Amino acid sequence: MVDPVAIGFGAGLVLVFVALHVARGTGWEATADISEEVIERRASTVEETEFPEPGSRAIGGGSVPAGAVAAGEDGELEEGAAAEDSVGPGDIPDDEIEYFEVEFAKEGDTIEVANNETVLEAGEDEGWDMPYACRQGQCVSCAGQITSGGNAEEYVEHDDQQMLDDAELDEGYTLTCVAYPRADFAIETGEAP
Ligand code: FES
Repeated sequence: MVDPVAIGFGAGLVLVFVALHVARGTGWEATADISEEVIERRASTVEETEFPEPGSRAIGGGSVPAGAVAAGEDGELEEGAAAEDSVGPGDIPDDEIEYFEVEFAKEGDTIEVANNETVLEAGEDEGWDMPYACRQGQCVSCAGQITSGGNAEEYVEHDDQQMLDDAELDEGYTLTCVAYPRADFAIETGEAP
């Protein structure tokens, strides 16, 4: 025997559930697309760089302009070149430093000069008034003459001197601002070829 009251009650419950379901469904809205906002917010926490970056840190980017790549490569090359340039006759480690006796004839004294300091610096350290101008081997203001006999470069190593030719070196001339001692010698300062 079917109870019409129970059927009515059941049907009523079903209707209520359906009504609730439909009512909730119509109130639903798609979540707003916040991905751009999230990217912006995260990007703002990352420090800005001065170069374009590929990948996720560059908003709206991802490709690097050709010029930027070239600049980067140049930078690396320059660094490499600078590293090579930094190795000169004066770049001698502390445990390989040697001292040589250098007689400064005009100053009337003989001093010990380390193989990682220039003849000019050594004279200045003594308080002598040594002539100089560029301090880069590109003039002859600091020139002196080694009087120990033979080519100047038997006694000193020049760090890239540009001014003295072979004949002048043979006569003992040296540019004291870029001359590092490699043997004992005597020198007349203030003597240019
Ligand atoms: S000061 Fe110019 S070459 Fe030495």
